[in-house]
Amino acid sequence: MSDLSRRDCLKIIGAGAAVAATGISIVSGQNPQNNTADESAEVKFDRARRMKWWHEAKFGMFIHWGLYSVLGRHEWVQEMEAIPAQEYEKLAAQFKPKPNFARDWARLAKRTGQKYMVMTTKHHEGFCHFNTSTTNFCAPKQAAGRDLVKEYVEAARAEGLRVGFYYSLMDWHHPDGARCADDEGARRRFVDYIHTHIRELMTNYGKIDILWYDVSWPLDVKGWESEKMNKMVFGLQPDIIVNNRNKLPGDFSTPEQRIEAAEAGRAWETCMTLNDSWGFHRADDAWKTPKQVVRNLITCARDEGNYLLNIGPLADGSIPPESIEIFTKVGDWMSRNGDAIYGSDKCQLTRSRNGSFSRKGTTLYFHIHYYPGSSVAFAGLMTKARSARLLATGQKVDFTQDTYGIRFTGLPEKAPDSPITTIAIECESVPTQDNIFVRKRERGQV
Ligand code: GLC
Repeated sequence: MSDLSRRDCLKIIGAGAAVAATGISIVSGQNPQNNTADESAEVKFDRARRMKWWHEAKFGMFIHWGLYSVLGRHEWVQEMEAIPAQEYEKLAAQFKPKPNFARDWARLAKRTGQKYMVMTTKHHEGFCHFNTSTTNFCAPKQAAGRDLVKEYVEAARAEGLRVGFYYSLMDWHHPDGARCADDEGARRRFVDYIHTHIRELMTNYGKIDILWYDVSWPLDVKGWESEKMNKMVFGLQPDIIVNNRNKLPGDFSTPEQRIEAAEAGRAWETCMTLNDSWGFHRADDAWKTPKQVVRNLITCARDEGNYLLNIGPLADGSIPPESIEIFTKVGDWMSRNGDAIYGSDKCQLTRSRNGSFSRKGTTLYFHIHYYPGSSVAFAGLMTKARSARLLATGQKVDFTQDTYGIRFTGLPEKAPDSPITTIAIECESVPTQDNIFVRKRERGQV
């Protein structure tokens, strides 16, 4: 049973029509990361059905956690410090997570306003957090002695969060992980190994919402048998969504450490670290501020994307205190201003030196990053505003609007919300902004 609304359907058909109207057809294979133009309406419709919750959710928690967390020098430490695999695997003896670690992650995600989680079930190091028939290099058969993926899944569900699995195709531990590139026997063994993991992950943990592939080095789409891989995944999990990092377009694009919308009609999610490392890095102190995080989230929402924000827990599963502090402040803001983010639509407005915008239907949200005091304005609003209020308190905001723009007045001298004050503006129709309207028209001459 599809729960897509008429509005959702029109959106899907609209996106297809927009592509058709350009007259540009993307030939299959030329742009494998973004090839959606030649898909049938049925395929598009099924994708929209599977992705509806995700589009509304907007904000998720990424978790990078592995044996590298024992060393605390970034998740690429094995490669960056040239640690031989036989040495590196000994870290498994020290990897003993505390009880209920995942409950703390899930509680923090919920408190932060994140609606889903994506955990590294296996990173490039090759250590599996799940029980697998393929290797002893997995948490249940090492010092941890437990299936950590199971604990994670249960914790996320207990907090009502959607569950995502990150899975690295690249594997530095498996003996065939590199030589598969030019040895067919090695490729056969390695690809069977990887496909078995994916089958186990898709079979043993109930309903999974997201499969987040990563790094496809050293094989290509044919070498990985990616078509077969996705077919198996959708056969086992018909409602799942998958990303584009097994070299197929999948359901969404994954800009990393930058906010960049995909082309029209294509879903995207920016993934980002909170400092400069995905995995725990003891010395990395380049923490983002809560304000930077909120701004990033708003920018993603404005351009109809999602924001997947990372934590890198310690080996015992505990979350770095800096991450808890930043996430908590973001969560406080979300508890007052979530209406401007969840379920928001693409917003055409971009221009202000004080803030940024998001939109839901005919409500425009003006997010003031640099709060100037009792009055603030922006130019080029082409839609009539009916009323305005502070989103955090509901307090009415006075304004005057003319052909050139809108000015809010009588605001408190000191910013009423932190780190960003949001004004919700009810408009007569879907709001738009003309960025050159003011310069093109001599004031008063229109
Ligand atoms: C890069 C890094 C990897 C990280 C990923 C997250 O691919 O190699 O460590 O997991 O980004 O998107």
